[in-house]
Amino acid sequence: MLKTLAIGAAFALALIPAASNAAGGSGHVEDFQFSFEGPFGAYDQNQLQRGLQIYTEVCAACHGLKFVPLRTLADEGGPALPADQVRAYAAENFTVYDADLDEDVPAKPVDHFPANTAAGAPDLSLMAKARAGFHGPYGSGMNQLFKGIGGAEYIASLLDGYTGEEKEEAGTLFYENTAFPGGWISMAPPLSDEQVEFADGHDNSVKAMSQDVAAFLMWTAEPKMMDRKKVGFVGVLILTVLSVLLYLTNKQLWAPHKGRKSA
Ligand code: HEC
Repeated sequence: MLKTLAIGAAFALALIPAASNAAGGSGHVEDFQFSFEGPFGAYDQNQLQRGLQIYTEVCAACHGLKFVPLRTLADEGGPALPADQVRAYAAENFTVYDADLDEDVPAKPVDHFPANTAAGAPDLSLMAKARAGFHGPYGSGMNQLFKGIGGAEYIASLLDGYTGEEKEEAGTLFYENTAFPGGWISMAPPLSDEQVEFADGHDNSVKAMSQDVAAFLMWTAEPKMMDRKKVGFVGVLILTVLSVLLYLTNKQLWAPHKGRKSA
């Protein structure tokens, strides 16, 4: 009885997300519904391609993706661009230094996205795994059990979380942001409505683009998520079958000894 009560109390606590924000001092993160959530979730190829376009046209000016090879843009389960488009994309957008020629040459699919530390902006390759959107309550991490870690949610909330307030401190401009821990970030609001034009005319509001680029950054941070889920599912399936077989074997083995009144 006591145990049941304790478990009940723990679950009740887990349902108070507001308390976690207050306790952790972190910002407000919206629980967006991404296509890749849940045990059978998958990346939305079109969304990743839109995210790539936003990254290229906006974020790449300050942020690098140095751990991401350009060739992976062709991977199944990722943006899945045709090979010739990847080649064209690499050559048109990035250059790499060639030591033999002693000059910068157009990037090829074997190269990585360039590193970029302009303006002290962090590399975004692994950002979606480096940040957690959900915490608590009271440091228990229980919210992550229900909502997931929330790296992509954090990034989307961050990009859409500017209030418009600014302040200057020691010569640096800070922008008020409801998702950023501490509330003031030195990154100016990078997105504005209709900033990026999509070929298929897809929604280009700040809210929509924030989610698209967040999904893309989730993919750069975990390109093999689909494979992981598939392998996990097969693993659980095999263990389930094994459990049933073990149960039946156990029953069979003990059958002659059960139900006897002796000793
Ligand atoms: C003008 C340069 C610039 C542009 C453009 C820019 N950023 Fe930033 N970004 C920064 C800087 C500088 C920081 C570090 C801010 C800080 O720590 O106060 C940052 C930080 C971040 C962070 C990390 C926040 C954290 O929790 O530490 C994320 C995520 C991010 N940017 C995403 C993006 C995305 C996505 C885009 C494109 C839509 C983008 N940025 C465009 C300069 C830029």
